[in-house]
Parts: sequence; C-alpha cells; structure tokens
Amino acid sequence: MFFHVVSTLNMRISLEEAAARLKRGEVVAIPTETVYGLAADASNDEALQKIFTTKQRPADHPLIVHIADINQVSNWAAAFPDIAVKLAKAFWPGALTLVLPAKAHVSRIVRGNEPTIALRVPNHPTALALLKLSGLSVAAPSANLFTQLSPTTAEHVEAGLGATMPVLDGGACTVGIESTIVSVAENGQWQLLRPGMISETDIAQVAEQPQQVKKSLSSGMVEIRTPKAPGQHALHYSPRTPLMLFKDKATLIQACDALTQASLKCVALLIGEGNAPACTVIRLSSQPAEVAEQLYSTLHHLDALKVDRLLLELPPNTPAWAAVLDRLSRAGGGINH
Ligand code: TXA
Ligand code: MG
Repeated sequence: MFFHVVSTLNMRISLEEAAARLKRGEVVAIPTETVYGLAADASNDEALQKIFTTKQRPADHPLIVHIADINQVSNWAAAFPDIAVKLAKAFWPGALTLVLPAKAHVSRIVRGNEPTIALRVPNHPTALALLKLSGLSVAAPSANLFTQLSPTTAEHVEAGLGATMPVLDGGACTVGIESTIVSVAENGQWQLLRPGMISETDIAQVAEQPQQVKKSLSSGMVEIRTPKAPGQHALHYSPRTPLMLFKDKATLIQACDALTQASLKCVALLIGEGNAPACTVIRLSSQPAEVAEQLYSTLHHLDALKVDRLLLELPPNTPAWAAVLDRLSRAGGGINH
C-alpha cells in the first residue's frame, strides 16, 4: 500500500530564486523593515491577480509598489510635488509610503481603480537587494490573509499562508508595524492616510506645513476631497481570540477578575510598569518604537495560547503612540472598554 507523503518542509528560497520567481510572474513573501510583504511584479497584471487570490483580498484594494530608489518614482507617478520630494529624501529608504497622482499606464489592479499610486523604498537590505537583482518594482501588501494579523517573521508568513508559500527569510522585522501612508496632491497639500512609526509630527516638520484639514461647508469654504485609503477596515489585523481593549490598568484588572470568576481564561498585555491582574501577563516596554517592534509577534504568540480572552491595555492617545493605538484598536474591531 502506498501513502501520499505530504511534505511539512517550509519553502525558504534564496535571493536568486526569489528574483527568478518574480520575473516568472509568481508571488513570493519578502522581508521589509515594517512587515513581510507578499510580492509580485508590479507591471504584470496576471502576477498581481495572484496576490489577491493568495490573500483572499477584495479586488478594489490598492497595493503599495516597492521601488529601489527615489529615481524610480517617475516610472509610476505623474507628479512628484516638492513636499513629496522632501519627504522621500528625508525618510527613504524607510517606513513611509507616498500616495501620488499615477501615470496613465499604471495598471488599474495595482491602483485599485484609484487615480493615484502608492510608492515606498523599503529600508531592508534583503528587499533592496531583491529589487536591484530582479530589476523589478514589486507590489507587496502584508503577507497575511485578509483581516488577519500581519507577519513580522518568516514563521508568521508560513503559519498564515501555509508551508508551501515561498519565503525569502530576512529575519524579524525591526519596525514591526506597517508604513505610514501620506498622500500628496499636485498642489502640495498632504494628508496622513495611515499612521505608522514615522509620526504626523515628523511629517509636518519636514513638509514645513501642517496636514490639510477638511473644512466645513457651512462656513462657506470649498469642500476638500479627502483621499481615502481603501482597505482600512475597522476589523483588521485581528487575532482569532476575542480581544478586549482597556484605557487603563485598573479597568483591565477589574475585567480580568470578573472573567476569571466566570471561569474564562485570560491573558493580559500591559504597556510599561504598574499593577497587573492575576492572570498570565505579558508586559511590553513604555517606548513606542519597542512596543511596535514586538506588537504583532506578541499578538501572534498570545493568539496561539488559545485562551478565552486577550485583555490589552491601550497606550496614551499621543502622536508618538498613534500607530500602535490604531493597530490595537483595529485588532479589537474598534470596541474599547
Ligand atoms: O509597511 C507596509 O506598508 C507594508 C510592507 C509590505 O511594505 N505593506 C502594506 O500593504 O501594509 P497593505 O496592502 O497591507 O496596505 C496597503 C494600503 C491599502 O490598504 C490602502 O489603504 C493604501 O495602502 N493604499 C495603497 N495604494 C493607495 C492609493 N493609491 N490610494 C490610497 N491608499 C492607498
Ligand atoms: Mg495589510
């Protein structure tokens, strides 16, 4: 009798193989400094389609195109306003994505039918080497299933997308949460579309002008169209275990006591020093950058414990914490306790 042997080996691939696969129109998972990306040749529509099927992601969500350096912006963008140039020079390679007016030839798939294109030069030696070696620009959303937690290690990618997913392993991501997304219009007005570890304050300082605000029509002003960032769902970046979010440790401790009395098993994720509940506790630092770096791996770990509730303490509502607060709120479906 013969048995079909299912290989449980992971498919870690070399830089050369990753470049070859991308050129053949295949998808591969790649490291960046923020999170792992599911990469495909950004100029190949068939390859781009594979990103959507692999992620089970709705087709109207635009993708970020990763380029090797600032000189490649003109391949994709119809305009590169002065403020965007300043931001690119200050933060690239790095965790900043610029949304700019798109050139007419840019695929509707990569733009998600928007008139704009999102561009980023990643600050990861392996990602940069891959872009150079392949000579391609690669579209890459986070390498997770739609609405699931983003991966920050090769193991996370394999746990989410399966062991047959080819992964270029570049170690653990050092930023740990997705890039800051800023749109810059042709007239130089800018807007923060997704908070990241490059804060609104950092952007405003380099841009030397504040973010464009939506003015009220009733005050007789002209309405400014707010560029949307499609795919920013409330329920995003979610662990499978039900989450409860708390504004302070005291309320979290009370809730933990009540849940424990009701025979529900909980674990708590706390930020910084202070009192702790009687359940298993993971304590993160009180520094935003350190918390960001650990955030998804900690949530992946807590999720694997398969307890009844994850109790998370929210950080303060300040610009430096905006990105961590955003991701935790989304992980909890926007419900705070
Ligand atoms: O750090 C990151 O940005 C990671 C790594 C892999 O680079 N990528 C990432 O991609 O987070 P993704 O697909 O998970 O998020 C892309 C988001 C979209 O959901 C959308 O909100 C925004 O970027 N976006 C992309 N193109 C856009 C456009 N043309 N206009 C407005 N928003 C856009
Ligand atoms: Mg994502």
